[in-house]
Amino acid sequence: MGLTNTTSTYGFISKFFHWIMALMLIAAWIMGLFHDDVGSLKRTFIIAHYTLGISVFLLVGFRLAWRLLNPTPTHVLKNKMLNIISNTTFAFFYSLMFLIPASGYMMMNFRGRNPVFFGYEIPALFQKNQSLKGLATDTHELLTTLLLVLVILHVAAALFHHFIRKDPTLKRMLLSK
Ligand code: HEM
Ligand code: HEM
Repeated sequence: MGLTNTTSTYGFISKFFHWIMALMLIAAWIMGLFHDDVGSLKRTFIIAHYTLGISVFLLVGFRLAWRLLNPTPTHVLKNKMLNIISNTTFAFFYSLMFLIPASGYMMMNFRGRNPVFFGYEIPALFQKNQSLKGLATDTHELLTTLLLVLVILHVAAALFHHFIRKDPTLKRMLLSK
């Protein structure tokens, strides 16, 4: 497997970004939703949630640059409508990987708190704001719900390609290939 993409398959760097960030997003999602239900692990969940989310924010810029610098493998299925849906989903994923952490950070600033990243407090960019904190919280929740819906569709599409169409779409994203 090469490091860079070709027009027919993903290279190691794109695959690495894809799978490490998929794991980080799923872990951040679970920790954000369940931090109140894990008893003494609550603090660990919250700190890990911020740290994972901020790491996603820092990594996605490099990932986007890598995607723009490399060829993107062409779609296996030549169905115009499905390919538009697939490209739109990818554009949403990239936007959400910036917007979800940004809304989380703003939500905390508006509450008068600073998130912790690997033990370091990130300085606030916004002042405490009673009227905006509800809006930022709703935005964070709405965007994370949108991410969940798109990931479910995305995984369903990958499984459809693999088990029903039996085409190489999933295989060319696997680290083992
Ligand atoms: C991309 C990464 C992230 C994902 C996938 C994510 C996901 C979530 C989810 C699913 C929730 C639960 C929402 C609900 O109750 O319906 C949540 C809550 C929360 N998130 Fe995030 N989040 C991310 C990044 C961040 C960042 C970077 C911060 C702060 C710097 C943050 C701060 C918070 C806070 C404070 C809550 C609790 C809100 C409350 O219940 O009052 N999140 N997040
Ligand atoms: C956990 C199960 C997942 C599976 C089985 C999966 C599978 C795949 C496959 C097969 C592709 C290649 C599609 C193609 O070549 O047309 C792909 C691409 C992509 N996936 Fe996933 N994925 C998963 C999770 C995620 C998550 C959580 C995200 C969230 C951001 C994500 C974002 C992307 C993006 C942006 C691409 C386009 C390629 C790139 O720019 O890196 N995936 N995925």
